Amino acid sequence: MTSNELRQKYLDFFSAKGHAIIPSASLIPENDPSLLFTNSGMSPLAPYLLGEKHPEGARLANSQKCFRAEDIDEVGDNRHNTFFEMLGNWSFGDYYKREQLNWWFEFLIDVLKIDPKRLYQTVYLGSDSIAKDEESIGILKEVYKKYGMDAEEGPETPSEGKYGPGMEIDFKKYKIFAYRDKNWWQRGDVVGELGGPDSETFYDTGKKHSRKHGEHCHLNCDCGRFIEIGNSVFMQYVRTETGWPRRLERGWQELKNKNVDFGGGLERLIMAAQGKNNIFETDLFANLINKIERLSGKKYADNMPAFEVIADHLKAAAFIMGGDKGLPGQGIAPSNTDQGYIVRRLIRRAIRYGKQIGIESKPDETWTKEIAKIAAHDYADTYPELQRNVDFIIEELKKEEEKFAKTLEKGLKEFTNQALRIKNQGLKIISGVDAFDLYQTYGFPIEMTKELAEEKGLEVDEAGFNKELKKHQELSRTASAGKFKGGLADASEETTKLHTAAHLLLAALRQVLGDHVIQKGSNITAERLRFDFSHPEKMTDKQKQEVEKLVNEAIEKNLPVTCEEMPLEEAKKRGAMGVFESRYGERVKVYFIKSAQGGRAFSAEICGGPHVENTNGLGHFKIIKEESSSAGVRRIKAVLVPSS
Ligand code: ALA
Repeated sequence: MTSNELRQKYLDFFSAKGHAIIPSASLIPENDPSLLFTNSGMSPLAPYLLGEKHPEGARLANSQKCFRAEDIDEVGDNRHNTFFEMLGNWSFGDYYKREQLNWWFEFLIDVLKIDPKRLYQTVYLGSDSIAKDEESIGILKEVYKKYGMDAEEGPETPSEGKYGPGMEIDFKKYKIFAYRDKNWWQRGDVVGELGGPDSETFYDTGKKHSRKHGEHCHLNCDCGRFIEIGNSVFMQYVRTETGWPRRLERGWQELKNKNVDFGGGLERLIMAAQGKNNIFETDLFANLINKIERLSGKKYADNMPAFEVIADHLKAAAFIMGGDKGLPGQGIAPSNTDQGYIVRRLIRRAIRYGKQIGIESKPDETWTKEIAKIAAHDYADTYPELQRNVDFIIEELKKEEEKFAKTLEKGLKEFTNQALRIKNQGLKIISGVDAFDLYQTYGFPIEMTKELAEEKGLEVDEAGFNKELKKHQELSRTASAGKFKGGLADASEETTKLHTAAHLLLAALRQVLGDHVIQKGSNITAERLRFDFSHPEKMTDKQKQEVEKLVNEAIEKNLPVTCEEMPLEEAKKRGAMGVFESRYGERVKVYFIKSAQGGRAFSAEICGGPHVENTNGLGHFKIIKEESSSAGVRRIKAVLVPSS
């Protein structure tokens, strides 16, 4: 079975169980400043898990492009990727544990033909405020029985669950294991965030346990014998208070809806279906690995981690740069801030690992683009945006590699000297000033310096580095760790207001500038909105004033904001605006801003919401800045000033 076939079989399977198949959302979240990247299938769906109605119904499934920056350093074992596809199915208050666990096993065993003897399952052990998931244990026993197995529950693992129950486990007899922290899923830790007990499926690769990871193996052991291939989250709680130590799981309230949020990594599933024990040995990486063998003249089998880092990182960089924008030059380029900084880190790390296996960047003959071309080709049918934007990807990779290749060699020498000096002084820490010099002069991302230091048994004074960084004001914002954590894009009142204001702004821009204006992107925080739109030239002061006036008039008219669901075709017929490059499902929600007396709508937009119910109370709309964003695209920053 190929990965393309597996993806299709999954979607067909859940479609036959009444699920609407929705397209993958963009890797760059829309209107969600708390999240740099879409990191799970559920992130774009959070509003619907919280109770908002989805236009396609209560059962959805898809394959979602995901990126997890926190796994950059994990790549190089047999199972971690930064970019991956998550196969997901959801029930919004519809089916629950019984259907989910039965269907999922049916898919694994009957469709993928995975040997049930290799499948293990974890469940939530419970805390002092939330009960153990006995219901799932009962269901799972029946499920195993269906496939001719008497599954028993093994010893429990309380607390953090890192070290297992501390005894040798008979894996022939025990199939189901309860963990505490490991089986509670939540995306972030802010009030309004969703969470719940989960039940994870593990595939036994048969790999021998290594004592390096603890005396005894268990399902969540890091030795690589058991690999998690799917997670059924029973998303039934909402965070009402923070501040509790996380493992008490206090401060959660039960939702009206009992939801299912399932996610399984395509890379790992195809690994299991193909009987492999390493995701990089599947067809999803074969062409990339081949190319790296040709470029380096080395064998993958002798240099596994380096090959895996290069294949993973450059594929991920291509996906982030390739974006979904559909227009060349609209994707994310390597830079020093936000997503661009992550792209830079990925490319530079890949180049450093390339050097380790003998791939040199020659002037006028860069190599990273060759890997990206293969990724674009491999995914041409599933994610055509890569192929569409391949020129942009190639150009940016070329520039970035040329820039970094010039300084890498010298930087590595400088680092070696630093390390020697420090060791000679009997010290263990690379100072902030030295780390900053590597960054500033040689373009070493701080994470790379930390990695190099670790290889030499040294540490880096990161706080000192940050101080230097601030002093030089090189970066306006670094991709601080906190930004990778999930957090419900504060569905706070302020962002909701600004979201509605963005609809008014688009409508006003079209009235003032013309129908060529379409939305090219937006980013909303609690403080301001940023809005990109197509327009060939700088706006005049008069045009800006007119736009402000139109928006403020609409606010003062106290116009109701209403939402209607309809087929996409009808939405288009009724003149609803959409984000040009987005792919929509068959049914969509359209938000109208129009007078209750009827007449032509001031604004009609295809949008997931949420929005305020009425424009009154939005305050006074003010444009702070109008500037160029890229060729043919302008950017407006605007705020809502509370009216006194
Ligand atoms: N949202 C769940 C996860 O990412 C399914 O694991």
